[in-house]
Amino acid sequence: MISTGFEVWKLLLAHSGRVGATSLRALFEKDPERASHLTKMLSDGKNEIIVDFSKQIVDLDVLNELLRLAGEMKVLEQFVAMRNGAEINSTEHQAVLHTALRATPEMTVTISGVDVVAEVHTELKALRKFANSVRKAKKFKKIVNIGIGGSDLGPDLVYEALSGRYKSEIDCEFVANIDMAEITSVLANSNPNETLFVICSKTLTTTETLANANYAKQWLASQFGVDADSETIAQHFVVVSAYPQRAAQAGINAANSFRIWPWVGGRYSISSAMSLAPIIAFGPDVFDEFLAGMRSVDDHMQNTAPQNNVPLILGLIDVWNTSVRGYTSQAFVPYAFQLRRLPSFLQQLIMESNGKSVLDDGSPISLRSSPVVWGGVGTIAQHAFFQMLHQGTDIVPVEFIGFVQSAHDQTVEHDVLIANMFAQARALAFGRTLAEVDAVVDAEVNSSNVASKENAHRVMRGNRPSTTVLAPALTSRTLGALIAMYEHRVFVQGVILGINSFDQWGVELGKSLAKQIASELDNELTNVISSETSSSLDSSTRKLIDWYRQHR
Ligand code: F6P
Repeated sequence: MISTGFEVWKLLLAHSGRVGATSLRALFEKDPERASHLTKMLSDGKNEIIVDFSKQIVDLDVLNELLRLAGEMKVLEQFVAMRNGAEINSTEHQAVLHTALRATPEMTVTISGVDVVAEVHTELKALRKFANSVRKAKKFKKIVNIGIGGSDLGPDLVYEALSGRYKSEIDCEFVANIDMAEITSVLANSNPNETLFVICSKTLTTTETLANANYAKQWLASQFGVDADSETIAQHFVVVSAYPQRAAQAGINAANSFRIWPWVGGRYSISSAMSLAPIIAFGPDVFDEFLAGMRSVDDHMQNTAPQNNVPLILGLIDVWNTSVRGYTSQAFVPYAFQLRRLPSFLQQLIMESNGKSVLDDGSPISLRSSPVVWGGVGTIAQHAFFQMLHQGTDIVPVEFIGFVQSAHDQTVEHDVLIANMFAQARALAFGRTLAEVDAVVDAEVNSSNVASKENAHRVMRGNRPSTTVLAPALTSRTLGALIAMYEHRVFVQGVILGINSFDQWGVELGKSLAKQIASELDNELTNVISSETSSSLDSSTRKLIDWYRQHR
């Protein structure tokens, strides 16, 4: 990891002081070719994505220093090691092999003597057969995906993203929350005869998922007037898990099940059977294209020279913005309604991976690790939080994502949408000086006295960093490429910072405390907290529990 005593780190801090003292206006003036120098292509012959990071607060010297850092930290070598099955998830003693989920059959990755790529392809074949049979039978018109975290955000993102372009005769809905308001509202609009439930859970121990799956089972049983554990009900259930054998014990009787593997992290499971709902909705061929897009970026990351390596460079800029420049948050704003789930997906991918305070060896980290990730879709976001992005006291690096072709026929409006995206990036970068405001307002108001009082409010200091990602169309292949690009950026940050990006111990404590408190709330016999729980609780939590129980 980089530490404050490290030579490259000192140089990066010096560069930060240097470029921080200048401005994007000055940097663009100084280098007329800046846009060409700081724009890279993510291209595989069939697909092309242009990535313009020229509006980041960097120059070629910064970029070269960051690339030197990546070289010293052997980021690309470590990526190859991950792809080959190295046990890099040190706290869970596991390999990290989401890249094997989209490997071609010719590739081999062996874990404990087993070729995992061969296993993946056996499963893909079974998925294809099942998806095609469901599509052909036309019995099911709706899929309800029950899962949370990566078992929800991934398939939901894929379904929504592709629904503008690919036709589906099956609607998909996604239920994640233990707040039963969610599942009850979905089921209120579902026909039991036509509904298939896909239960997604890597562990099959997740409280929310098991509660929702059991609720769905009881709902179906009461609608059909049959036993909840009957074969009739099982025909409406599919399980996707690394441990499908746990389903029966969890009360889920599913006629079909598909596997993932312990070496697939929940937030990295989008290229696995976890995407069963969209695989059925759009067909396995569309999913194959998605996997091909991901694989092309895996290959790009592994084989492209550092100075043209898009995920590497973007990951390094993420490190630069968060750990060197010290920006505390990062916003993602797709100008494509179909990508409205992307900010939530990236929240889990980035924050659950790199939201850590210790290094791989358990010692404290001295640098800022994960930013707060947030966002929304353009242009809606412009009317919600862009005011703060332009004139707030905090600087938030923004990533704009857009497409040349729209998912509809309204080309004029689509041009306006993309014009807004370009305009926002430009306004953030270059702002508007007082002299520029005065010139416009004086001309408009024709009274500099009245105008000048208010003109300070109209000044935009600019110098707010952004990256623009632009692709021809939101195809399945492009979506796969984009997701893999984000996955690998997170990897780059993790390697540079020396973090284990693949565990998530921070979510465990809250889960076990919730179980302890829930058992207290569940006790109908008494309004008094058991002495055992009470003694372990702080006075605030104890008071809240008491108040809750007295008022229900
Ligand atoms: O939120 C923690 C987490 O473990 C995520 O990493 C995971 O995606 C989610 O819970 C769901 O886990 P599972 O797929 O095992 O139900």
